[in-house]
Amino acid sequence: MTALRAHRGALLHFLGDPGAGGDASRFEYFEDGVLLLEGSRVARAGSAEAVLRELPRDVPIEDHAGGLIVPGFVDAHTHYSQTDVIASAGRHLLHWLEHYTFPQECRFEDAAHATEVAGFFLDELLRQGTTTALVFGTVHRASVDAFFTVAQRRRLRMAAGKVLMDRHCPGHLQDTAETGIADSEALIGAWHGRDRLAYAITPRFAITSSDEQLAAAGVLARRHPEVLIQTHVAENREEVEWARRLFPRDRSYLDVYDRHGLLREGAVYAHCIHLDADDRAKLAASGATAAFCPTSNLFLGSGLFDLAAADRAGHAVALATDVGAGTSFSMLATMAEAYKVAQLQGQVLSPVRAFYFATLAGARALRMDDAIGNFAPGKEADFIVLDEGGVPLVKRRLAAAKTLEERLLVFMMLGDERNVRATYVLGERIAP
Ligand code: GUN
Ligand code: ZN
Repeated sequence: MTALRAHRGALLHFLGDPGAGGDASRFEYFEDGVLLLEGSRVARAGSAEAVLRELPRDVPIEDHAGGLIVPGFVDAHTHYSQTDVIASAGRHLLHWLEHYTFPQECRFEDAAHATEVAGFFLDELLRQGTTTALVFGTVHRASVDAFFTVAQRRRLRMAAGKVLMDRHCPGHLQDTAETGIADSEALIGAWHGRDRLAYAITPRFAITSSDEQLAAAGVLARRHPEVLIQTHVAENREEVEWARRLFPRDRSYLDVYDRHGLLREGAVYAHCIHLDADDRAKLAASGATAAFCPTSNLFLGSGLFDLAAADRAGHAVALATDVGAGTSFSMLATMAEAYKVAQLQGQVLSPVRAFYFATLAGARALRMDDAIGNFAPGKEADFIVLDEGGVPLVKRRLAAAKTLEERLLVFMMLGDERNVRATYVLGERIAP
């Protein structure tokens, strides 16, 4: 029998979306809880009293007194190739892409560079408590081979894809409809479903893909219903206007993707700011997810994600850093900015729901909720322990926090990597 191991501390995980009202039946919280592992998987999560009562005496118990055990964070949209672009003063999306992002992405043709950046990026994610992410590579096939190679070595559950772009970007960053699909097909064959890795078909956005390339991506997506899809939509008004000019036949920017069969379950659409009610209804019907990227949207002045409209339409939402337009690798910091984006629109993002967005919602968006996202028995044991981290202010404020909601709000508003006491992957502590 595989060895049992117990982790004791406060414990929180989600069974579903607690919604705007913070429905308490959608999560489980144990003030004194135990996460029982059998090897690399969850055997059980419950109150310490209930779990310990039935536990053989010789099972080792790791005591995380003062800590809060939660599932590892899932970042639903980020760019590893933009690690070195973070905090670059773009005036708005298209200016930022041209002046900072495209020049940096040119370097990923070099496998050694890609490997070094992938290593740094994944180390940083783990330090911040993020154990799974949906990640953009660059147009270069080598960028994705490098990323998956490094992720596989660390035994991580990760998804990534090679960017498709055949126009409106520097010539040496362009593929073609044919080469882009051939490279994607080869990468799917090499990586999708291997260990804990998943492939995502990755048209950058409709601006940089010809209709021919989007059509080819759609054909590829139909051939591979099991793979993910990731792209950007309706982030910035100038971008939306450009898309309208490029695709005059389509009712909306989102419709361009829909026409090509790219709007479906397992597709993650970053931003979704400038959408109308028809778009949102279509998003909901398709089963695709909107990735809410608050630090990026504020940094580039793109606009405010409308969570209330998403709820009215009933489409899925997950939370994402969008590094390097996003200004932090931390999902705690990302939750804080999401909360403020809601506030600016007279909406409320409860802390409980913010933690749902950063865990189970991300796992669902990536169709990985059979494996990760909460502590249901049998799930892979990717989890983190949050605590005051020796930060005097956090310690002081947590001491005064009485309820779970108050505690979570302190973590998301004031927390950073110092408050991630430990990150576990497949039951093994791998950071810090
Ligand atoms: N739209 C197209 N490419 C990008 C990108 O790299 N980052 C962001 N934030 N938006 C995009
Ligand atoms: Zn992005």
